Amino acid sequence: MTGERIFRIGVLGSGKGSNFVAIADACAAGSVPAQVAVVVSDVAEAGILSRARERNIPAHFLPPGKFRTKLDEETERSYIEALRAAKVDLVVLAGFMRVLKDAFLGAFAGRIVNIHPSLLPSFPGLAAWKQALAHGVRVTGCTVHFVDAGVDSGPIIGQQTVPVLDDDTAETLHQRIHAAEHALYPRCVAALARGEITVQGRRVVWRTAS
Ligand code: GRF
Repeated sequence: MTGERIFRIGVLGSGKGSNFVAIADACAAGSVPAQVAVVVSDVAEAGILSRARERNIPAHFLPPGKFRTKLDEETERSYIEALRAAKVDLVVLAGFMRVLKDAFLGAFAGRIVNIHPSLLPSFPGLAAWKQALAHGVRVTGCTVHFVDAGVDSGPIIGQQTVPVLDDDTAETLHQRIHAAEHALYPRCVAALARGEITVQGRRVVWRTAS
């Protein structure tokens, strides 16, 4: 026992939760030196909640309020409170389908990360793999980035390339990007938990802890 406090992660998601599973299982296996302290979803029946409960991780549905693409002020406060109550060091967005506003960004400044299914800054926004296929790029991938007030626009922490194959459909390409995400996201979260990541303006520097 070192007596050191374990790094605590709060995960927000609206969907299946496969990235959450990759991170939670990497924590359990010890390759990410952290613990998922809480999972919060805006969708009552989201797979991410059941997958968290299967792992005995506290999981809450918090009703999203009156808007479709963001949280209203009161709702946003309930999200902040749930994450603060769990004493999280890092907020990990894993398929959370709402834009976070100033109160939330301020509450966890510099401590919110997201994964996006393209090589940003190409193809921000929805269905990025479809955008990549329609554009005809030969290489796409996924990006882990800090969250700022824009859409998929914060400083880039890590990227993983994925080739676009001649016979790819939107579905096959999406599946390969998803598989790349499951390797990239735990690697980035591990570096954050180890304190190996610093931000210099838009540039994120990885420093291997000695
Ligand atoms: C991922 O493709 C991620 O890039 C995007 O949302 C999806 C979440 O998938 N932000 P899952 O719920 O982790 O399976």
